[in-house]
Amino acid sequence: MAEYQHWKLDTDKDNILWLTIDRAGKSTNSLSREVFDEFDKIIDGIDENKISGVVIRSGKKKGFIAGADISQFLDLKTEDEAFDLIRQAQIVLDKFEALSVPTVAMISGFCLGGGCELALACRYRVADEHPSTKIGLPEVKLGIHPGWGGTVRLPRLIGPMKAMNIMLPGRALLARNAARMGMVDVAVPKRQLERAARYYILQKPKPYVMKWYECLSNVAFVRPWLAKIFYKKLSAKVDRHHYPAPFAIVKGWVRDNDKNKAMIAEAKSIAKLMVTETARHLVRVFFLQDRLKGLAKGADFSPKRVHVIGAGTMGGDIAAWCALRGFHVTLQDQTAEQIAPAIKRAYQLFKKKLKRPHLVQATMDRLQPDITGLGVRSADVVIEAIFENLEVKQTLFRTLEPQLKSDAILATNTSSIPLSEIATALQKPERLVGIHFFNPVAMMPLVEVVRGEQSSNDVLANAMAFVGKIGKLPLPVASKPGFLVNRILMPYLMESMVLLEEGVSPCTIDKAALDFGMPMGPITLADKVGLDVCLSVAEKLSSHFGGVVPERLKTMVADGRLGVKSGRGFYQYKKGKPVAEKAKGTGKASKDITDRLMLRMLNESVACLHEAVIEDADLLDAGMIFGTGFAPFRGGPIHYAKHRGYAEIVVRLQALADQYGERFKPYVGWENFVSSAELKDVPSGEDRLASQGL
Ligand code: NAI
Repeated sequence: MAEYQHWKLDTDKDNILWLTIDRAGKSTNSLSREVFDEFDKIIDGIDENKISGVVIRSGKKKGFIAGADISQFLDLKTEDEAFDLIRQAQIVLDKFEALSVPTVAMISGFCLGGGCELALACRYRVADEHPSTKIGLPEVKLGIHPGWGGTVRLPRLIGPMKAMNIMLPGRALLARNAARMGMVDVAVPKRQLERAARYYILQKPKPYVMKWYECLSNVAFVRPWLAKIFYKKLSAKVDRHHYPAPFAIVKGWVRDNDKNKAMIAEAKSIAKLMVTETARHLVRVFFLQDRLKGLAKGADFSPKRVHVIGAGTMGGDIAAWCALRGFHVTLQDQTAEQIAPAIKRAYQLFKKKLKRPHLVQATMDRLQPDITGLGVRSADVVIEAIFENLEVKQTLFRTLEPQLKSDAILATNTSSIPLSEIATALQKPERLVGIHFFNPVAMMPLVEVVRGEQSSNDVLANAMAFVGKIGKLPLPVASKPGFLVNRILMPYLMESMVLLEEGVSPCTIDKAALDFGMPMGPITLADKVGLDVCLSVAEKLSSHFGGVVPERLKTMVADGRLGVKSGRGFYQYKKGKPVAEKAKGTGKASKDITDRLMLRMLNESVACLHEAVIEDADLLDAGMIFGTGFAPFRGGPIHYAKHRGYAEIVVRLQALADQYGERFKPYVGWENFVSSAELKDVPSGEDRLASQGL
């Protein structure tokens, strides 16, 4: 047989053709045009009379197939180009599906997107039951939907209810869950995977059969009725104008009668989505995430033990998270009573995430209370998360330093104290780094890695590697007040409170942000973070950068209205959930309100870039998307400004400054984005910029 670059072919004594995908020059498998071209040739060369079946497996250590090669999407200029690319691959998969011999996808590790669609084109799927195996169709997260027959094959295989449950949110399933749903035929331990694949080829058991009600829900006259339910549920979660892809999946399914026509409709629909701004921005976000992951690979640091000091809100949750990710963790506080609530919270987290009691127990065993701080001596990473007080922190660091292993990372989770001030307590200030987590630790994917003036490059690289190893995204930032995320977020929160003081309702303000695409409104966010925390950060930042802290915030904190935790903030809460008053509330958001909120963020973003808080605009965008959920389909604050027009933003800021006050004045830094020539058609703006020396 011919030699292929990305595939290896072996036939065994049972005449099973083992087709191993091993994409050349890549550490993981993805499906590119070249991979499909070779696959097409391989299928053409198969003599069905000579083989008993085909098993597709991966030649990589990591995973089956991660999905389509997304970098090839970036080259697509028009809908027609996108359609051709998609349709060619569909035809290859159709041809493979039509083979008369049985076919099996042997899945171990991730099997996502296009990889999952290839597996769905097989007659059977056998999967490794290890938790690292994830099977799903996450395309909606890139602003598109499955395009290689996934939207057509999956509802036909397991029924629309289950299929939509997977495709609309872009979920990935563990092998056992996928088996329960009928998406894979069997989930087995890895050592039995090959035997299982062989069994399906040689015994040809009956593939998964849908239950009667699953069949019924696929019937043509039931579909429009069911679709209404899907649309309603979707609309409650996402805005169709911001994220059209899941709506397009439902639309395609409702019309789907003839399989071939449905495949062409799927290709047309995805081609249309692929060239939208939403998809382009989300693909960019995907690459930004990859860049952050890449930053964690810059050092050969393999920590095993973590010691956390301070078992409060943050320290307790950081310790639990590290234990969950496989580290041996010691957790120190002043008394056992202070550690107990953290251990209780950790147990709840482990139960929720791990489910199986023996796994929960094993993880609990890795998390040890440590009042005397014995763990410091053997720790590879020491994280301080005690009170936000310089003297208290310095005293602690003085006692810690002599006990540390020579290559251990010494980190602080401070949100506002400059590292250089804490480091004065150290003999070797270069070993101190900030590892700044966000609350709630288990939910937030981003961690700021803070470079103090004296932090050494090695320590920074090790800290980023550690953050990667606990499954978070590291964002390198400079030790300037508020670092990046809180600094940019704070003007947005403060503006929402100024709006409140002007008499705008909380719902109207929240709606303006939601309409823009933020995951929650600023008023809800402030209530969640805690108004006392907001006030303390706002006071610290205003002491550095000026600005007025809204009176309303101060009086609320003085009255003990702290947000969700006290049951009353801007909204009312019962058992942590907003009461009906909020749920019912609506508001008519105006563009003015949206601009007042968002443009303050943009202005602060430009100032952060100018002051080198962060290295470049892409990292800033990534930080705000993964640290605050900044509307991902807009690509981040700077990308949004670029898209809307830097000049327009500057002029708009100045207009807002004229109307609402100095806080909107374009900061120094916009001149890096806007030339005076760009502003020539907007004389008033040009005049104003000139008066500021821009
Ligand atoms: P917290 O008040 O909930 O917990 C602090 C804990 O440290 C308490 O349990 C206290 O007993 C303990 N502690 C104080 N001095 C100690 C010492 N010398 N030795 C051992 N334990 C000691 O505080 P929280 O909110 O967890 O904040 C901790 C740090 O994390 C602060 O630096 C804060 O700025 C930072 N941070 C807080 C965030 C938040 O949302 N709360 C977010 C990100 C960072």
